[in-house]
Amino acid sequence: MVDLSVKIGDLTLQNPVTPASGAFSWEYADIIDLNRLGGLVAKTICREPRFGNPTPRMAETEAGIIQSIGLPGKGINYFLENIVPEYKKFTPPLIVSCSSEDPEEFAVLTKELSIPEVDVVECNISCPTRNTTGGNFSLNSEHTKSVVGKLREATDKPLWAKLSPNAGDLVSIALAAEEAGADAVCIANTFLSLKIRTDNFKPALGNKYGGMVSPALKPIVVRMVYQCAKEVKIPIIGIGGITKAEDVVEYMLAGASAVGIGYAGFRNPSALTSIIDDLEAWCDSRGIERVSDLIGAVDDDMEMDTLNAASAGV
Ligand SMILES: Cc1cc2nc3c(=O)[nH]c(=O)nc-3n(C[C@H](O)[C@H](O)[C@H](O)COP(=O)(O)O)c2cc1C
Repeated sequence: MVDLSVKIGDLTLQNPVTPASGAFSWEYADIIDLNRLGGLVAKTICREPRFGNPTPRMAETEAGIIQSIGLPGKGINYFLENIVPEYKKFTPPLIVSCSSEDPEEFAVLTKELSIPEVDVVECNISCPTRNTTGGNFSLNSEHTKSVVGKLREATDKPLWAKLSPNAGDLVSIALAAEEAGADAVCIANTFLSLKIRTDNFKPALGNKYGGMVSPALKPIVVRMVYQCAKEVKIPIIGIGGITKAEDVVEYMLAGASAVGIGYAGFRNPSALTSIIDDLEAWCDSRGIERVSDLIGAVDDDMEMDTLNAASAGV
């Protein structure tokens, strides 16, 4: 039977399938066995309590949803006292996601989250409706380097940086995060979007802009993972549009060491564990002994000469 374990730096995950921050909570335990997941990823926590964005916070499109939740939460103290113990009822590593619009506060928050119960701090530097100096630092390589460097100084925990697909040159952002000391990069957060209602001419979301999630975006994020994997040495967690085991394989072939899954869990709450089962079966049926052998194993030695390609027929 295939060994599904993967390593992200010094941390071993029993399999590469984790939930995506904000699209998951410990309450999924009512439906699936959380102990089967590669990791448990909590919703992004901010230091102070936040109400989140004005409603409506979600809207449907033809090919997915756009959402602007606005990181509501009860703040760090509530998180540490009430939410961390809920996650600690389960065995997979706990990955806590955090965010701030202010780099100094972000560093304090990171330090406060660096308690023994927490295995990884994931810094959400890619909230799509914020700007480059106000939370969405990962639109700009200098801001990425600066904020990740501050967070690196604030914690000895593995530090994963969640990047934005809205950056023009994601490779340079991933390199900046690596240079600043991130142990892994999560690619990616959501795509900045706008939906306008034709009945009243108003934006469909209360916050005007939202982040789009859709299986249709998967090839774009796979491309980003592939391009970044060619340049960065730290592991990549691929996130975007995964709905089935073959999507996990695709991300891993592109260079991801693990994946995050959000949207698929909305459509089918047991998707995460079904995907693990299917990934195991997929590997076993092909005699793959270690799922980690798939990482970066894309066979991209292609004939790129257009004249030769043209002579090869269809
Ligand atoms: C309702 C909703 C809330 C989200 N909240 C967060 C969040 O708090 N922090 C974060 O880093 N990403 C958040 N995301 C982004 C997801 O973690 C993930 O990057 C994105 O949904 C793409 O993955 P998917 O296609 O599997 O959903 C959220 C996504 C959705 C749909």
